[in-house]
Amino acid sequence: MTAAVVAATHPRADVVGVDAMPEHIAHAREFCTRAAIRNVTLHQADFGSPDLVALPRFEYIVAHGVYTWVSAAARADVRAFIDRHLKPGGLVYVSYNAMPGWAADLPLQRVLLELAAAGRGDSNARFAAAAEAVERMTDAGALALVASPLARSGLAERRKRIAGAYFPHEFLPAAWQPLYVTDVRNDFAQIGLEPIASATIRDNFDTYTLKARWRDALATVEEPNLRELLRDFFRSTPFRRDVFGRDVRVLEDAERRARIFALSFQLARPRDQVEYCMPTVAGEVGFDTAAAQHIVASLAGGPRRLEDIGDARFPPADLLANAVALCAADDVRPVASQAVPVENLNRTLAADAAAFPYRVSPHGTAIRIAAAPAGASEAEAHASSEGWARFFDVHGMGVPASGHAADGRSRA
Ligand SMILES: C[S@@+](CC[C@H](N)C(=O)[O-])C[C@H]1O[C@@H](n2cnc3c(N)ncnc32)[C@H](O)[C@@H]1O
Repeated sequence: MTAAVVAATHPRADVVGVDAMPEHIAHAREFCTRAAIRNVTLHQADFGSPDLVALPRFEYIVAHGVYTWVSAAARADVRAFIDRHLKPGGLVYVSYNAMPGWAADLPLQRVLLELAAAGRGDSNARFAAAAEAVERMTDAGALALVASPLARSGLAERRKRIAGAYFPHEFLPAAWQPLYVTDVRNDFAQIGLEPIASATIRDNFDTYTLKARWRDALATVEEPNLRELLRDFFRSTPFRRDVFGRDVRVLEDAERRARIFALSFQLARPRDQVEYCMPTVAGEVGFDTAAAQHIVASLAGGPRRLEDIGDARFPPADLLANAVALCAADDVRPVASQAVPVENLNRTLAADAAAFPYRVSPHGTAIRIAAAPAGASEAEAHASSEGWARFFDVHGMGVPASGHAADGRSRA
């Protein structure tokens, strides 16, 4: 799905997708055919397959949900692929389950794996039976599970929200192993890659994600990798989305600022649903400022460049800080300036909204939608989808399928 959306919204890009599992490749090919997406090539291949050697070098290489779900040998194959196929100046995105954020849930993963291995049926049936057994054990007070936030409530909550086929992929790979950030950084240093940033915008800012006392405790730690590891101990984050680069030129502050002002931004939800605050592990961060309200009001009619929504009332530094805060809260997204046609893609998604709960913007971002919550009154569902229907219309994202309201909480 990621490859398809990226390709559809970047028609001049050549997108290549690799996965070893034939069903995944067949599914993606069929989706791209239905949505008439032609600039994607999909390879059913192991990351270490010699068939991939002939691929060209890429500006971007993305491995989402792969690195800590595969064996050490497959991780080495992923690195060898990146080493061979990343252009100088190119960027790599790697997401992974992180330690120590996963520490309390490690016993849950092990017991799911063992129960599913002893079960019957296909992996979906074995996972479902294992999850139900774990729920019973947790209810009975099994101490190792009561200590696991995922066993206590997270797993049941995800099973209500996410289609069943996700779970065997998430929890049943035998080699599944969360890693510390320093392990991953050392791995990528071996192929000449440097850490650049987090793809989760808010995680790049200590003031959004660390309490003042945590920042004080880190003040004397200068070595960047050690500091990042200790940051993870304070935040206890279970999932990282790291961006690495090879021979990437570091921008001066002034150039970075100029580039952000030249970027276009788009609202990620209807204007009246922007709350001007975000809950983080450091507490609630509020930014209900005149500058933030001005940015949101300026974007209500569709994407605009930050430099075009300047206003004499607000110094540029204020606009910049508030635009970053809105992006960190995922109320606003940085997007491409040029619009491309996405009607086919949105029609294909809408035809199977249960499997593909997304609407794609002509400017290259996607908004997750969710079924109207059971028990919501008709008026509530209507009011909510009315706002979203208008939002999707204004943003060239089509009309949501009836009975579906955007899922403002998931902030996907
Ligand atoms: C957790 S899923 C993530 C899938 C996808 N990247 C996404 O974001 O939805 C991990 C994927 O890695 C694939 N995979 C695991 N080991 C692999 C290998 N050695 N070579 C190629 N693909 C592999 C699996 O088939 C599976 O689709």
